[in-house]
Amino acid sequence: MSSKNINKIKKDLENVKNKINLLNHHYYVLDSPLVSDHEYDIEFQKLINLEESYPNLVSNDSPSQRIGGQPLSKFESVNHKEKMFSLNNVFEIKDLKLYMERLEKNLLISSRNIKFSAEPKLDGLAINLLYERGVLVLAATRGDGTTGENVTKNVKTIKSIPLKLMGNNFPNVLEVRGEIFISKNGFDKINSSNSDKIFANARNAAAGSLRQLDPNIAASRPLDAFFYSIGYSSGNLNISSQSGSLLKLSKWGFKICELNKIVSGLGGCKEFYKKIYSMRDKIPYEIDGIVYKVDNLQHQKDLGFVSRAPRWAIAHKFPAEQKITTIDKVRFQVGRTGVVTPVASLKPVEVGGVIVSNATLHNMDEINKKDLHIGDTVTIRRAGDVIPEIVSIVNKGVERKKIIMPKKCPECGSAIERVKDMAFAKCTGGLNCSAQKKAAIIHFVSKKAMDIQGIGEKLISRLVDEKIINNTSDLYKLNNKKLKNLTINTAVREDSGKEYDITLGDKSIKNILKSISDRMEIKLSNFIYSLGINEVGEVTARSLAKKYQSIEDLSKANYNDIIKLRDIGPVAALNIYNYFHNKENLENINNMLNSGLQLINNKKEEDNLFSNETYVITGKLNNMSRRNLEEYIIENGGNISNSVSKKTSALIVGLDPGSKLEKAKKLGVKIINDKDFYKILKI
Ligand code: IVH
Repeated sequence: MSSKNINKIKKDLENVKNKINLLNHHYYVLDSPLVSDHEYDIEFQKLINLEESYPNLVSNDSPSQRIGGQPLSKFESVNHKEKMFSLNNVFEIKDLKLYMERLEKNLLISSRNIKFSAEPKLDGLAINLLYERGVLVLAATRGDGTTGENVTKNVKTIKSIPLKLMGNNFPNVLEVRGEIFISKNGFDKINSSNSDKIFANARNAAAGSLRQLDPNIAASRPLDAFFYSIGYSSGNLNISSQSGSLLKLSKWGFKICELNKIVSGLGGCKEFYKKIYSMRDKIPYEIDGIVYKVDNLQHQKDLGFVSRAPRWAIAHKFPAEQKITTIDKVRFQVGRTGVVTPVASLKPVEVGGVIVSNATLHNMDEINKKDLHIGDTVTIRRAGDVIPEIVSIVNKGVERKKIIMPKKCPECGSAIERVKDMAFAKCTGGLNCSAQKKAAIIHFVSKKAMDIQGIGEKLISRLVDEKIINNTSDLYKLNNKKLKNLTINTAVREDSGKEYDITLGDKSIKNILKSISDRMEIKLSNFIYSLGINEVGEVTARSLAKKYQSIEDLSKANYNDIIKLRDIGPVAALNIYNYFHNKENLENINNMLNSGLQLINNKKEEDNLFSNETYVITGKLNNMSRRNLEEYIIENGGNISNSVSKKTSALIVGLDPGSKLEKAKKLGVKIINDKDFYKILKI
């Protein structure tokens, strides 16, 4: 074919693709169709005909590529270019007020004069889209904020998401963030269709559909999406506000929540919240609160982030849904640290799309304060992922029975004692108590700890009951022989009615052993967290790993050193110290290491860009608040000092530097301007 002809075909193809994209945009994003369905079908057929005749001209961004395709065997992990943060929550006005006060203090502006982009908090799941030269190349779930799952094939089936950005004013590389959801109508449709799958709520339906390995199934589900922020961008976007970002996103063809509004101060936020809350039932998609975002991007930069959430935004959640049910029984559950928690067994009831049949009663003081008895009718509440709890009594049971804390541990028979000055009671059996032992091992294998996936609660419980394992290091001594005849369940034979044991099959045994051997290399911070030291969560575990670099050094640390670490209080410090001064614990750790467990100290390679370096900062920084830069340096292993001395590694200089600059020059201390410094930090 002559080059003239092929160019003409390319042009025709481009025209028909552009036309379909435009029709799609009007239909799915703007909700105002330009043509009838029939006319749309004709255009689409034109595209299919052309592409069938010239298959090598089928491009990634063609509307024909929205349709299914081959199923995947698994989702691959992908890194986000920029981290995806989460949001801190408030439930009550008094906490929103406190948030505003903190903003005022940080920005030195009266909150009345702070403008917010007030946006409904969409109850779906976050998505990160990557566009290169305007074409959608990757869609990833949020995952842990740094790494998510590649769900591009499924996302491409969502018609309201542009495969190609509109206009030509976009950077070469661009990340766009939003929320995937299924509307209330769409949810009813899925659940009333003939499919065997019933979802508890629209959010689960959206998550279940997005995580389908077969894109044809995803394509058949009414997934939709709103977009609310820009992540990484390779070029300067000339945007100075969140509302400006939303406008830009809508110009590029993204669907933006039509209820978003700019409001001022606490009053404006409260008013918006009230209005949206009152119309919640009429909104065609699920929302679970309002997000207030400081609109000015410079202010956002100044405020920065803390841990996993921005200081410049807060989610004001709607009150949790409540239901009425009765307390049938109360059992006493012994946790990892021996704390005995009363748990109510309830008549099952649906709350916020989930069937609830248990609720924590926290402790005896709570029970007495609420005057709860077995047989009472009560209201229960469940907020998001939070464990359900009892709010109050509706009706006292006719034959109500008092709830009494047992004197002896239901698991090991050791005495239960009330902890001095505390509301809770503890089993005194320590690791001799099988419940505590089991809970410690369950924690050890859990996702955020060692992430040993093939071993669940039931198996651990059986292994401990049969005395095959007694502590976490025994997991590494498991072998074929030990697992071979382990009964994990019993069943009844249909023909004879006789009970028989179910033991582990060869394949299950192989999988269990493999899941352990797959996790023989583990980050030091995960390992520290997995030890289950009381009060040592993930963040503390990370600070300890960063500071001590090895489990040997941590175990030798003294109390006064530990307590100096940021975010570690006296109780946690004492727990850590005591943990590593207990013979059994040290033996257990040694046994694990002797079994070949390798602890990797990632921080050494990744974060310790500035180890043993001390920096001083002067002047107003160009791109971020001083506090943020300080946090970055500390996180990367460096130190901050307020005054320049011979020991200073470098002085970081922003605009209008103070006398520190003169001093640095005099002492011959290295001087770096802040912009160059950001480059070293890759920020
Ligand atoms: S902004 C750093 N805006 O809420 C800011 N998030 O709890 C991060 N969400 O993972 C998000 N509606 O999935 C933002 N209008 C909205 C939102 C929203 C829903 C979700 C999102 C995020 C989660 C954070």
